[in-house]
Amino acid sequence: MRKDLLDLRSLSKQDIELILDTADACKEILSRPVRKVPTLRGKVLVNLFYEASTRTRMSFEMAGKCLSADVMSVSVATSSVTKGESIKDTVRTVEALGADFVVIRHSSPGVPHLIARTVRAGVINAGDGTHEHPTQGLLDAFTIRERLGSLAGRRVLIVGDILHSRVARSDIWALTKLGARVAVCGPATLLPPGLERFGVKVYTDLDEALPQAEVIQVLRVQLERQKGGLLPSLREYSRRYGINKQRLDALGQDVVLMHPGPANLGVEITEVAAEDRRSVIRDQVRNGVAVRMAVLYLLSGGDKSELAD
Ligand code: CP
Repeated sequence: MRKDLLDLRSLSKQDIELILDTADACKEILSRPVRKVPTLRGKVLVNLFYEASTRTRMSFEMAGKCLSADVMSVSVATSSVTKGESIKDTVRTVEALGADFVVIRHSSPGVPHLIARTVRAGVINAGDGTHEHPTQGLLDAFTIRERLGSLAGRRVLIVGDILHSRVARSDIWALTKLGARVAVCGPATLLPPGLERFGVKVYTDLDEALPQAEVIQVLRVQLERQKGGLLPSLREYSRRYGINKQRLDALGQDVVLMHPGPANLGVEITEVAAEDRRSVIRDQVRNGVAVRMAVLYLLSGGDKSELAD
């Protein structure tokens, strides 16, 4: 395993499988009455989030604590960033204070890569602009594998705002490397050109795409990244691309419904659909802890067979 986890594009199928297999062992730890092992005792993990987060930040905190690391989360809004401190300076300061891992989320693609070249600490990309969100791609692959046994040959449809979605990019890398047949569907204005080059099938008509799918990953409409003119209206989007109970019921009882969160309920997915028994949205959140434990463990030089009890 390398020093950093910056993207899934550069990981091999074997790298991804090792992380998922390690996450299985981590999930077993999380099922114990005492959800803590001493594996990362003495190590320091710092969360540095320049964009909002609930799931990723909290699950990195939990993952670090379950492995006995000391965990700190820098509140960027009240840090010296507001006095003009550069990202490189902030990260060097964090490292001088003893960080072994820096988990970073930033609105600009490539910032985690820059930081990884700046510090000796292991750097984990927690989402960089529209580029990648590797631990989300891993936990999505883990959740599908857990539900269906294997990714090989499984038909996964990613629906929505593909253009702005770092989750879609990481999902496509992870799922295609593991042998899934991935399709995407959204309005033409929210589909980046050339997607077929990544081995995915492209649809603009949801009702044509849905019957082909065993797994549906619904993406959030990223209202904060829309530059205007890409969507006619949210109501129209919801009518043409929203997942509701009626569309879900047309797919049968075995379909797996996913959403990385946070969801705009009533826009890309209705609350009734999100709470349906076919939804694994809560599993995705829970599995995020196990997958992030696995990433921290492997980046620290651990071997799956040695995960301490
Ligand atoms: N899926 C995801 O990244 O959620 P948060 O923005 O809450 O971390």
